[in-house]
Amino acid sequence: MYTKTFITACLLAIRQHVVCAASTWPAPTDELEDLIFLSTGYRSTGLAGLVTPCSKGLSSSRVTAAEWLRTAFHDAISGNIFTGLGGLDGSIAWEIDTLENEGVFADDSVKAWANFVSDQTSLSDVIAAATYAVTRSCSNISIAVRGGRVDATQAGPVGFVPQPQNAVTIFRNQFARMGLDDQGMVQFVACGHTIGGVHVADHPEITDKALATFDKTPYSLDNSIAVEYMQGTTNNPLVVGQSVANRRNSDFKVFSGADRNVTISALAADREVFDNACKTIFQKMIDQVPSGVVLSDPVTPYEVKPYGLQLTLLDGGSKIRFTGDVRVRSTRGAVSQVQLTYTDRNRAVAQTPIDTTAKGIAAGFDDSFDFFGFSTDLPADTSISSFNVVVTYGDSITTFDNNGSGFQVQDAVIYQAPQSCLNSDGQLTVVAAVRDAQDAPNLQVMIKVPQASPNPVPSISTTTIPMATQSAVGSYGLYAANLAFSPDIKQPPVFGIFGGSVADTRKGVSDLATSCATLATPTQSSSSSSSSASGDFITSSAGGNFTSSSISASASSVITPTPSTLSDSMTSSTSAPESVSSSESTPSSSSELTPSSVSSSSISAPASASSTESTSSSISSSSSNPEPPSSTASTSTTPSPTGSADYAFEGCYYDPVNPRALTGKNDYNDEMTIDLCATSCSQFHYFGVEYGRECYCGNELNSLSTSQSLTDCAMPCGGSSTRICGGPQRISLYTNSKYSAPVEPSMPGYEYKGCYSEGSNTRALLTKSFNAPDMTVEQCASLCTGIPYFGVEYSQECYCGTTLQSGSVPQPASDCNMLCAGNKTQYCGGPNRLSLYLDAANPVSSPMNPPMSDSTYQGCYTDSVNARVLIDLWTSGSDMTVQKCANFCARYAYFGTEYSAECYCGDVLKSSTTKVEEAQCGMSCAGNMSQVCGSGDRLSVYLKDS
Ligand code: HEM
Repeated sequence: MYTKTFITACLLAIRQHVVCAASTWPAPTDELEDLIFLSTGYRSTGLAGLVTPCSKGLSSSRVTAAEWLRTAFHDAISGNIFTGLGGLDGSIAWEIDTLENEGVFADDSVKAWANFVSDQTSLSDVIAAATYAVTRSCSNISIAVRGGRVDATQAGPVGFVPQPQNAVTIFRNQFARMGLDDQGMVQFVACGHTIGGVHVADHPEITDKALATFDKTPYSLDNSIAVEYMQGTTNNPLVVGQSVANRRNSDFKVFSGADRNVTISALAADREVFDNACKTIFQKMIDQVPSGVVLSDPVTPYEVKPYGLQLTLLDGGSKIRFTGDVRVRSTRGAVSQVQLTYTDRNRAVAQTPIDTTAKGIAAGFDDSFDFFGFSTDLPADTSISSFNVVVTYGDSITTFDNNGSGFQVQDAVIYQAPQSCLNSDGQLTVVAAVRDAQDAPNLQVMIKVPQASPNPVPSISTTTIPMATQSAVGSYGLYAANLAFSPDIKQPPVFGIFGGSVADTRKGVSDLATSCATLATPTQSSSSSSSSASGDFITSSAGGNFTSSSISASASSVITPTPSTLSDSMTSSTSAPESVSSSESTPSSSSELTPSSVSSSSISAPASASSTESTSSSISSSSSNPEPPSSTASTSTTPSPTGSADYAFEGCYYDPVNPRALTGKNDYNDEMTIDLCATSCSQFHYFGVEYGRECYCGNELNSLSTSQSLTDCAMPCGGSSTRICGGPQRISLYTNSKYSAPVEPSMPGYEYKGCYSEGSNTRALLTKSFNAPDMTVEQCASLCTGIPYFGVEYSQECYCGTTLQSGSVPQPASDCNMLCAGNKTQYCGGPNRLSLYLDAANPVSSPMNPPMSDSTYQGCYTDSVNARVLIDLWTSGSDMTVQKCANFCARYAYFGTEYSAECYCGDVLKSSTTKVEEAQCGMSCAGNMSQVCGSGDRLSVYLKDS
């Protein structure tokens, strides 16, 4: 037998997924660690169980793993590397009822995930853990999960989610925003479309099956999709079948259109290549977060992790009971014994270790864990300050010392569960014991409240109540707070007690008695079954120094679940208690018994916002963030209101973070100066510096950005300690004196029509499209020469068309506020917004329904892919004209042209059709731009003269 101390640097990778030792406990990712690694058994979270096995689903045609993966993708695709906005940010919760997320998949996924969201774990972190569970359940691919994502407080922009009817050029744009090139796009689509499939319920235009799977192994995330595609045996509904006729064969467009099948054939040829590509791409998907969000290191399983540690004062204050569980990773060897060696409050090492007994086992995808419980009574005057865990594996003993710092236990502020109670009327009484006459603690209670529709994820509302003094017990004082819960509260509250720099947090009400017990005096104590000392609670009021009736005389409040608005949820979610000043109430990071649990990392705002919470050990309070300035610095370095000749100081403004105060462009630099930011933002009206190192530019200030006290902006600039660069969520705002607003260029011969939306279900301009990283208005005009309309969109896209498709209508000018990629003095539309121009000097006349010698135009009629209205014969071709269609249908009474290139014939015009206004048939014929050939699902119908 030998003994060693566990050294917690990076260890040799015994198993593939073990890379480095886990972080020091407690960490803000502790709950996330459970979500990732505790799939089954004791204290398991149940997240992975919802997608294990991979075939699991809410009905025979639904695959939960596939729905989760698709929902994660729809959340992450909002990521835009050019603006630093979007990404995996939980915005999907606000978008579950949009057209882009039609069907039940997103709604059901978000509702399932909502159960795992807490003040410590954001929805977007849960989505990352869920993606890990999907890839592990459906394949051997293992991605690393980091924590610290911040949830969006509103829906992202529309138009980011690829639609099957889009052209490959549009797909390119959409994936390029995520930073993916053609190869990445093909890999991403192939890796996603290998589980699940297409449902008739959501896409009747693509399949008539309840579930048309992408490949023959829909419950395995493997390369069958690529193999079958390359072999020509594929039944992928986005490659073959009815999607071809109505141009919804998007997988084909992606695989073949991007690089002529080069990437997909490499994925087909080698399973390992496929697995590696998917691992990289899914990793990218979950790590794509808005700029400013700081992710933690990858979460790895702790070798040893404490749970539910609790000290309880008993026996008239003479003893302290120490209870809890310790989890040991047993993958590395069977565990035969676990003991706790501990140091007392006076830093003396206790001679007798604390014994534990087996409590249960749990497992994850790779690891097994054994839980051991303990309960021991310690003298109150020596108590405990930290412990190590000594684990016996077979004949070897390892001591785990939490990366050298021991597992810390604070006994200065203790929650007293036996003296607390929740009666049947919803009256909660919480009692705490506070050592050595410290200040009165605060009770902080968190409840989940509904968010604004349609978001099904509740937000967390925090209420802080000062606790009132009750009595003294030994070296402790007892404090109490009383509050009443409305019966409408659906989920039990969670609470914590904060005093000075320490806290005792994450307490639940489920185990509370309906009446509060008194704390017995030493003479009344009975012997405990626990190891080293005796003591217990008795409920007799005789000799008790504290009764529940006395508690109810203390400060009380009522908590009811109120629907929170956007700002409500942000305010209530931030960690500083509301009813007391933050200096008194914010828990300190130096606390020993995890105040971080209440200081929610999940709700800490990115970068600049995180500093507000840096006192509460949130993830983003990393050492790379600049230190706050000293008070001397802040008073002596107030920026001059005049700025310089090039810019003028406007004041200190609030930055709501999501969206930012200024959204045009951003930049981060540890050496930030005001001049640097001014230069970086030279093409914007406003610029501002924040949090010492951040620079933001924009032409408009967010309406939520209100002016703040100048003293709020007090952080010195990283690159110039004598100047001020904002503060946490505070931006030092400047106007750029030399800036001249972008103008719509006067294009000789063109009339600027304004800012227009895209068409409904179709692009507004259909004839041609281009994308160029140096796009300008002039370039687009020249690309569209000879075509009446052109429009620039989303900075670098260009569209041409002979007519404007239905649904494309004027929008506020401010919607077209993106600068052209190739000329920052011009506007090039916006997301789904066209800056539209018409060739006024030499317009091609609008397309017409040409007069025919032996037939007469009847009008514009509805049609649909699943119920055609002319059913006898059809053709299509890029040279389609009205005459060609008439010739093709010569033997039939009716003919009709549709979607520019399609032609349908029939002797009967089915009664399911309806005649609609002429404007709905606005597409030019592919073979003759001066003629009308219907539109999407619209037929230009002709009847043969009798
Ligand atoms: C050109 C890009 C893409 C288009 C046009 C597209 C379109 C679609 C469509 C129409 C469906 C069928 C939905 C239904 O009927 O339930 C679907 C399903 C799915 N998509 Fe995509 N998708 C694209 C890219 C991706 C990517 C990159 C992923 C990566 C995660 C992904 C993951 C999935 C999954 C897992 C399903 C199956 C859902 C289920 O079975 O419930 N898709 N996609």
